[in-house]
Amino acid sequence: MTYKICLLPGDGIGPEVIDCAKQVLSALPLDFEFTRADIGFNAYERLGTPLPDSTLEQIRASSATLFGAVTTPPNLAGYFSPVVRMRQSLELFANLRPCRSIPHESSKENIDIIIVRENIEGLYSGIERLENDGNRAITERVITRKGSERIIRKAFDLARQTNRKSVHVIHKANVLRQTCGLFRAVAFEIAKEYPEIILHEMLVDTCAMELVRAPEQFEVIVTTNLFGDILSDEACMFVGGLGVAASGNIGVHASVFEPVHGSAPPLVGTGKANPIAMFLATAMMLDYLNEKESAEQLRKAVESCIASKETTPDLGGSLTTSQVTKKIIERIS
Ligand code: NAI
Ligand code: MG
Repeated sequence: MTYKICLLPGDGIGPEVIDCAKQVLSALPLDFEFTRADIGFNAYERLGTPLPDSTLEQIRASSATLFGAVTTPPNLAGYFSPVVRMRQSLELFANLRPCRSIPHESSKENIDIIIVRENIEGLYSGIERLENDGNRAITERVITRKGSERIIRKAFDLARQTNRKSVHVIHKANVLRQTCGLFRAVAFEIAKEYPEIILHEMLVDTCAMELVRAPEQFEVIVTTNLFGDILSDEACMFVGGLGVAASGNIGVHASVFEPVHGSAPPLVGTGKANPIAMFLATAMMLDYLNEKESAEQLRKAVESCIASKETTPDLGGSLTTSQVTKKIIERIS
């Protein structure tokens, strides 16, 4: 079977790491047909929008999508975040962020967490207004039963598929009694469908502390949009940081996989951009396509490169972006 993969290079180092991912995919014993679509500030300058409708159509028509990164221009009137808009438009309701130990001195050991973040509701629903002549600003936090059910079910399904024994629901229901109250209640309802998995609950501020103190206690974390955004960035710093952090945006009819880092303008053309975050996002995509063997092969190649210090300078190595890519391809071919 041939997989149709949509590539969204974007801005800055996005096109560099996307090109590396394409080379790695082409070295696997699978058939891919690649298409490219526009996103980001370059697209805005050429086409007048950072997210053309044709990009959304191409993503919908693909088996899966790989996204590099975009640059956000500060304070440009009429500009909008193409990433947030893409997640909303395609209903990419689940943001998955694996945080797993790597064989490197900057990484803590024995960590293997999946953070499952609700990706389109909560404080990022986009309902904001100014009142009182601009002296009162309001953002509405929308939590729905449907949105909560599907993200919590996703977390339990992932726990089951990966033989994890527990899920932590993270909330602040003691203060946000309505919104977090609903999310928490739904978690305890859904948990009954998964009797072999223990549901723990934790307040978000406690979780922020516990992640620093003893991250190995967590297996799956499920939470609302803003909390998940913050906690997932916090957690990735214990396991190698931005050069290796990957994420997946999963919807019902589309999915987009991306490194967590941004467009890193100072690194463009220097050969210092670490492609590993993009490779781990690619491995997540292979998992999603049910090509588990290739996904595992790619992850093993990445771990082996890190362990033998065949890395870019951010991980202490002296290789360039394309040299690391070559080392990975040698290991998977
Ligand atoms: P950034 O993630 O681009 O860079 C942060 C730091 O990490 C910099 O020191 C950078 O050199 C380093 N870094 C990032 N990726 C790396 C890689 N692959 N290898 C080695 N080092 C790496 O975040 P920053 O500087 O805050 O933002 C730059 C631009 O990216 C901004 O316009 C921002 O809006 C955008 N951005 C886009 C994101 C996306 O497309 N999903 C996410 C975050 C930021
Ligand atoms: Mg973030």
